[in-house]
Amino acid sequence: MHTTAHIGEPFNDASPQGDGGDGSFPAGDGNIRQGIDRDAPGGGGNVTPGIGDPFSIAGVRLSNRLLQAPMAGISGRAFRLEARRFGAGLVTTEMVSSYGVQYRNRRTLVMLELVESEHPVAVQLFGNQPRVMAEAARAAEAAGADIIDINMGCPVRKVIKTGAGVALMEDGELAARLTAAVVKAVSVPVTVKIRSGLRRDLTAKEFALRLTDAGAAAICIHPRLAEQGQKGLADHSVSAALAAMLTVPVIASGDIYHPDQAAALLRAGCAAVMIGRGALGNPWIFEDLLAGAEPRRRPIEKVLAEMGRFYHDAAAEMGQERAGRYLRKFYGWYLKPFKPDAALRDGLRRVDGFAEAELLIRSYLIQGQV
Ligand SMILES: Cc1cc2nc3c(=O)[nH]c(=O)nc-3n(C[C@H](O)[C@H](O)[C@H](O)COP(=O)(O)O)c2cc1C
Repeated sequence: MHTTAHIGEPFNDASPQGDGGDGSFPAGDGNIRQGIDRDAPGGGGNVTPGIGDPFSIAGVRLSNRLLQAPMAGISGRAFRLEARRFGAGLVTTEMVSSYGVQYRNRRTLVMLELVESEHPVAVQLFGNQPRVMAEAARAAEAAGADIIDINMGCPVRKVIKTGAGVALMEDGELAARLTAAVVKAVSVPVTVKIRSGLRRDLTAKEFALRLTDAGAAAICIHPRLAEQGQKGLADHSVSAALAAMLTVPVIASGDIYHPDQAAALLRAGCAAVMIGRGALGNPWIFEDLLAGAEPRRRPIEKVLAEMGRFYHDAAAEMGQERAGRYLRKFYGWYLKPFKPDAALRDGLRRVDGFAEAELLIRSYLIQGQV
């Protein structure tokens, strides 16, 4: 136990800290609209739905418009179940390699194992060969996927060097053929997740039109350029422009942490919003946004109980040893609102399982330092 360590003051909801990627809740501020005009096309006229209103993607009914974003290395089954328990209207797997499915790679096939309580669930696939993607989509459908999502937004080197992910935005003709092949292969809806463009040019509009012509049932837009990675702010004027132009639902993803951001996107014509980093160690974000409330800190006992539940589900999914390692990256996110000091964060990076983590955290609690 580190006697000098402490967990600091409760965080202040209104403080302009963090970008949420580390589990903190960025403040609502002047950037909240992120490029969306109040009178954006698609926002006027009709009554704007609320975040808690249902909608459908080509016949698949989702109970609300708050969806969990796919995140590689994160959105395994335990994470999806957590998002579902807190109200997400759709959960999505991490991206699954179509080549891994083709070669029956054991770790890839495990990613296709879905459980009853997580539906509706989308399986996200990546690859660049229409035939291989079609085959993988068939396998995902057979595994129970309610929706197949195609990744055309991942900018990670090892993905784009195979011509997959956002690299497909460079070749609209191939992207359309690939989409059409997947649409033809399955009877569930096929959606595509894209970015604003590759480098300087915003190519999302033309590109999305090609995809919907090829049969995409919805477009999810993460409105950053590929070269930005996660840097800068998501420019949701791109999401609004797509929503105004397309006849299929448009789902907006990027930097959404507050109910007024979600509401602005629905007013701008988007059908739904996706939460990624905001849900890391903070599944309550789904509950809060569905209630139209600002994100707020939960009592430490509630947070510990949820961490235990999450670990339990992760251990059932991947075994205790891997679950222990997987959770190491989450402890800091769960505890972020309590401002754990460096010694505690460091200690939590080395624990073997949740029991050990809980003991360590409680040793700080006993000192009255939460
Ligand atoms: C760790 C991490 C992994 C991600 N993995 C994927 C992925 O597998 N597929 C995908 O389409 N997007 C992926 N994304 C992008 C997110 O789905 C989302 O579009 C992006 O993070 C912006 O949303 P946010 O600000 O709510 O996090 C990932 C993002 C992060 C932070």
